[in-house]
Amino acid sequence: MAMVGMRRYCLCASHGFFVLVFLPFLFLFHHAPVAAGADAPSSQPSLDKTQEAIMKDLLRIVGSSSWSNTTTSNPCKWSGVNCTRSGSSWVVTNITLPNCGISNSSIFASICRLESLLALDLSRNSLTNLTTQFFSPSCSTKEGLRLLNLSSNMLSHPLSNFSAFPQLEVLDLSLNSFTSENLSADLGSFLKLRSLNVSANKLTGEVPTSMVGSLLELVLSGNQLNGSIPPDLFKYENLTLLDLSQNFLTGVVPDKFMKLSKLETLLLSGNKLIGEIPPSLSNVRTLSRFAANQNNFNGSVPSNITKHVRMLDLSYNNLNGTIPLDFLSHPGLQSVDLTTNMLEGSIPRNFSPSLYRLRLGGNRLSGNISDSICDGMGLTYLELDNNQLTGNIPSELGNCKNLSLLSLASNKLQGQVPPAISSLDKLVVLKLQNNSLNGPIPYAFSDLKSLSILNLSQNLLTGEIPSGIFELQKLSILDLHDNSISGAIPISVSLSKALIELNLGNNALAGTIPTMPTTLTTSLNLSHNNLSGSIPSDIGYLSELEILDLSYNSLSGEVPSSLGNLQSLTQLVLSYNDLSGSVPIFRQNVSIRIEGNPDVVNGTGDKNGIHTTSTRKRHTIVIIIFTIAGALVGLCLLAAIVMMSLSKRIYRVEDEGLSAGESVPQITNGCLITMNSIHTSAIEFTKAMEAVCNHQNIFLKTRFCTYYKVVMPNGSTYSVKKLNSSDKIFQIGNQEKFAREIEVLGKLTNSNVMVPLAYILTADSAYLLYEHGYKGTVSDLLHGEKSDNIDWPSRYSIALGVAQGLTFLHGCTQPVLLLDLSTRTIHLKSSNEPQIGDIELYKIIDPSRSTGSFSTIAGTVGYIPPEYAYTMRLTMAGNVYSFGVILLELLTGKPSVSDGIELAKWALSLSGRPEQREQILDTRVSGTSIAVHSQMLSVLNIALSCVAFSPDARPKMRNVLRMLFNAK
Ligand SMILES: *[C@@H]1O[C@H](CO)[C@@H](O)[C@H](O)[C@H]1NC(C)=O
Ligand SMILES: *[C@@H]1O[C@H](CO)[C@@H](O)[C@H](O)[C@H]1NC(C)=O
Ligand SMILES: *[C@@H]1O[C@H](CO)[C@@H](O)[C@H](O)[C@H]1NC(C)=O
Ligand SMILES: *[C@@H]1O[C@H](CO)[C@@H](O)[C@H](O)[C@H]1NC(C)=O
Repeated sequence: MAMVGMRRYCLCASHGFFVLVFLPFLFLFHHAPVAAGADAPSSQPSLDKTQEAIMKDLLRIVGSSSWSNTTTSNPCKWSGVNCTRSGSSWVVTNITLPNCGISNSSIFASICRLESLLALDLSRNSLTNLTTQFFSPSCSTKEGLRLLNLSSNMLSHPLSNFSAFPQLEVLDLSLNSFTSENLSADLGSFLKLRSLNVSANKLTGEVPTSMVGSLLELVLSGNQLNGSIPPDLFKYENLTLLDLSQNFLTGVVPDKFMKLSKLETLLLSGNKLIGEIPPSLSNVRTLSRFAANQNNFNGSVPSNITKHVRMLDLSYNNLNGTIPLDFLSHPGLQSVDLTTNMLEGSIPRNFSPSLYRLRLGGNRLSGNISDSICDGMGLTYLELDNNQLTGNIPSELGNCKNLSLLSLASNKLQGQVPPAISSLDKLVVLKLQNNSLNGPIPYAFSDLKSLSILNLSQNLLTGEIPSGIFELQKLSILDLHDNSISGAIPISVSLSKALIELNLGNNALAGTIPTMPTTLTTSLNLSHNNLSGSIPSDIGYLSELEILDLSYNSLSGEVPSSLGNLQSLTQLVLSYNDLSGSVPIFRQNVSIRIEGNPDVVNGTGDKNGIHTTSTRKRHTIVIIIFTIAGALVGLCLLAAIVMMSLSKRIYRVEDEGLSAGESVPQITNGCLITMNSIHTSAIEFTKAMEAVCNHQNIFLKTRFCTYYKVVMPNGSTYSVKKLNSSDKIFQIGNQEKFAREIEVLGKLTNSNVMVPLAYILTADSAYLLYEHGYKGTVSDLLHGEKSDNIDWPSRYSIALGVAQGLTFLHGCTQPVLLLDLSTRTIHLKSSNEPQIGDIELYKIIDPSRSTGSFSTIAGTVGYIPPEYAYTMRLTMAGNVYSFGVILLELLTGKPSVSDGIELAKWALSLSGRPEQREQILDTRVSGTSIAVHSQMLSVLNIALSCVAFSPDARPKMRNVLRMLFNAK
């Protein structure tokens, strides 16, 4: 129900705010001289009067702001309209209006009168009901219609309603909720069908075989089809595309693929199919893509399958035996994924030059890594982890110049890390952990200019850490724990530009702790070494650090009070050192361990080892005390200083280093986006600027933004958000572009999305204004003091609200992606009304200008999908992952990261067995009733599918939303 109220703003039209708002008026005033053009004897198409009237009806229903290029009086020239000559006059043949926010089904009353129509595309709109008229015999359109695309709406009709479209050739009903009582009967009625796509609907029953013989494309993925694959399916000799993935199909696949001699793509992934991969597939010369991952196939890999197939995915099955010798050498082969099977023997030695992705992890492969592995030169992703490979890492890997991901982790590899790897200047991820590698870390690793993740942990490495490693501009995760590395931690670590996680635990490092880079956010682990000296007080600059473990060293002196500045800390481990003094009191919950020190007490005077501090009710408005970190964000002094503004400003220019104070920022541009007169009359920009100069007005800080509360002269309250422009990754330098983007976002209307009402630009900052209905964030609600009082219905409403907001944002013509989606960026208007905040970030942050890796800026730790580490691209699937983590937080009551373990990974590890799934849930809540318990289990399934490792395996937001509704 709630989805019906959801409105989408369509950007089919030009982007400018002015045009969007004023076009309708222009159109009205310029309406008069219509007839003039019609008289001209030119070849200009002009419609007959009836059709012209129908089209104008249609425009009225769709709305001229949603339909671009409609200012001209000739409908044949509107965008998305094609006409053709019919006798002396012209008629409309094609209407293409995808993603125009159409929800009004009365549009079909007009469409049904266009008897000339051949093609109708209304995909990605918000239609919920096609009206009986569209299906009735009185609708003259359907007699001639050849193409009908209603993909991505919210339709839920029985498929049988489409029976009387005699000319239909292409039918796309994907991503709706269509049902069928009898699939064979329903599909049998289309006599001219060439392409049918009903994926992601609610079809049940068996795979139909009643379609017309000329069918070329059949896509039925993402339904609830059961039974086995019928032998009769092989009579469709013209099939080029067959997609039956993500259903409940069982049994053995018939070995009859020689009959489908034109098949190009075959997708059987995500079913429960058993038996062998049919050998006949190897004989289909046209087949270029075959995926049968996530089934229960056994037997061996068909020997010649890669002769024709270029993209093969047989991962997550039970395939055994060896990989045929020539399997990877066929010309044209691009991608092979055999991850997580039971394959044994050695990896073939010959590689096709076109092979760019090879994934063989999680098998039982043995023997050496061939020194010919890079002869093909094309490899970009190579994953051989979790096997039983032995011998040395061949230095020939240095010839794979395109390599961006190399994982050889968890094997039995020995010898030294070959320095030749250092020449791979596109390498982003290097994982060699959990082997028996010895010798030093190659000095030349400092040449790996693209490296973002380096994991050499759990080996036998010795020597010192090459200081050049920390000068790698993109290095974000360095894990060297569990080796025998000695020497001091290079002071160059402070130069690191992107490091978010540093784990040097369990080595033989000595000396003092150098200055750490402020980019560290996930964890800093220096435990189990021989470090001495005191804890440097500048550690207090790491304001975003979540875990700090310095245990089992010989650190002495007082615990620095600056530790109290670590506002994001969740875990502090100082055990077994020689420390003294007291641990500061933290504003947030922090688990603290101080046992094994002679003389440390924590701030509350407690000398016990384990302690959790919690001093503030976090879901009330938090007045953030300004810290050193705050100063980095941009510091304003109190109003008193405003008096001295002029002299201060001059002084600041002369001495850039002095960051003591600023005057009220000078507005260079302020603009109201909202048209709502309540707001336009209330908002005063200067008042907003005064408010941001008083830090007592701060009520929230997120990764990239600071929120202030402002009371306008008429007494109403607003939120002002300052975008942290001191960070170089912001590109608001281009103010025009910024203004354009914000104006587009300001047109969005969805009750679960925070939409800006106005923006203000100053010389060096940007501010957005919002309605102020702030009742804390979802994080405050869940992890504050009263979190156990939050009942399931409230948590479910929050889940649903966030899903609706996100579905809406993803559904826009230019989808809005979220850079930082976490429970900290979701505000609450009331305890069950969430609003997604910070939606503009992806528009104004330019990852390419970031000095760090993409994962450094892509949101908050714990919510970042694994693929961001090497894809460097914000995606909808990535947002779905973050949403899955939010669902898990609602289900478990746990934060996204605890004890250094990400919630998503923890939940996935327990999800295998039903009895373990119980343990994931927050028992304080799941124990309240059987109904609550079973609903939570359903939502857990949804959450787990959202955090699937593979982005392709995650559902789209609109499906997530649908599943959440169904879980009710
Ligand atoms: C519609 O208008 C936009 C700009 O207003 C223009 O870029 C585009 O080419 C036009 N499209 C058609 C089909 O005329
Ligand atoms: C059909 O309409 C589309 C969309 O307006 C336009 O781009 C295309 O040029 C038209 N084709 C013909 C043949 O008029
Ligand atoms: C209109 O639709 C028909 C039927 O799908 C198609 O064959 C034709 O190419 C389309 N015309 C244009 C101009 O897009
Ligand atoms: C569509 O609307 C009609 C009339 O309002 C109603 O009778 C019918 O049940 C609706 N169908 C669906 C599938 O909601």
